[in-house]
Amino acid sequence: MHTPFLRTALGLAATLLASSTVLAQAQPPLKVGLMLPATGTFAALGTAIENGFKQYVDEQGGKLGGRSIQYFKVDDESDPSKATDNVNKLIKRDAVDVIVGTVHSGVALAMARAVKESNTLLIVPNAGADAITGPLCAPNILRSSFSNWQPGFATGVVAAQKGYKRAMTITWNYAAGNETVKGFTEAFEKGGGKVTKDLTLPFPNVEFQALLTEIAAQKPDVVFAFFAGGGAVKFVKDYDAAGLKKTVPLMGSGFLTDGTLEAQGASAQGLLTSLHYADGIETPRNTAFRNKYAVAYKMQPDVYAVQGYDAAQLLGAGLNAVKGDFTKRDAMVAAMRKTPVDSPRGKYTLSAAHNPVQDFYIREVKGRENAMTGVAVKVLPDPARGCKM
Ligand code: PHB
Repeated sequence: MHTPFLRTALGLAATLLASSTVLAQAQPPLKVGLMLPATGTFAALGTAIENGFKQYVDEQGGKLGGRSIQYFKVDDESDPSKATDNVNKLIKRDAVDVIVGTVHSGVALAMARAVKESNTLLIVPNAGADAITGPLCAPNILRSSFSNWQPGFATGVVAAQKGYKRAMTITWNYAAGNETVKGFTEAFEKGGGKVTKDLTLPFPNVEFQALLTEIAAQKPDVVFAFFAGGGAVKFVKDYDAAGLKKTVPLMGSGFLTDGTLEAQGASAQGLLTSLHYADGIETPRNTAFRNKYAVAYKMQPDVYAVQGYDAAQLLGAGLNAVKGDFTKRDAMVAAMRKTPVDSPRGKYTLSAAHNPVQDFYIREVKGRENAMTGVAVKVLPDPARGCKM
């Protein structure tokens, strides 16, 4: 016979057990804010990132760490002047748990500043702004893509190895363009080359003619370009139409030819670039990713889709480690930092500053593919200048 005291204690224990089980089962959906461009020159990049993110979540049965996902979306228009207002819609109005965004470095810089204040978790699935994993680095900010310095540097290594001596650069005058060119110049000049002139135009302008005329007059050994999305399509076509493709080799960080080949057609054939992804990586992981993507979205994946997919993998690794308990933020971020990411691009880990330490491939445009022709730099870390964490 149980004493009244024991009966009460047992009853209490049973009630506690039942309510904690209910608690575990009734965890509300995790609120994920997607802040991406849906309009403008980077619109297709935003779509690919969202597709990739959702593909990974779908592969996990629609849940990460046992939590279903509720999406909140903001079109950031790749407009830095609207960025703070836009990110605050997700932070304050929607009270999301985590923000995934964005493409444009200038917009992402404003997002990083906002989440440093609110302590909202931010995963950057593209924007390379060096400061995000440099002076602005923080425990609640992680990147599944690259720093602008990285692909610039890798392409500079390849250009120097090809024996080019005099280079001109051309890009949009904003963080991504300028920092990519800086990375290129650092490696190219270390390898014995010299950058003779940097040409720029405001983002997202595409009136390239005057600048192409200057390239034709100067006849450098090579031109290095950073453009992406709609602007990259127009630039590669204009470069060809100006007759420059036959006389001055064009190189770029791989964004110049990623997600763009159908629209660029013959103008892109043979272009050499470097990037942390190539369509033709022949691993079971990449092949499975590509096949599923093509079936799900009726289009070919690109580097942006991979970065979106990996943003979801990062979040999943964190949530799995804490069984979906988002309040265990430190343990969650520690797992995100330490768990190797099994990416379609190849396995990588995050640096102490939360930026991928990854291989950079040499790619050549062949038909509708950025075929992999070699490795530019293996396991390239970002220098993370100015990060104190
Ligand atoms: C950027 O603004 O950081 C950016 C945009 C498009 C790219 C790469 C970087 O393809």
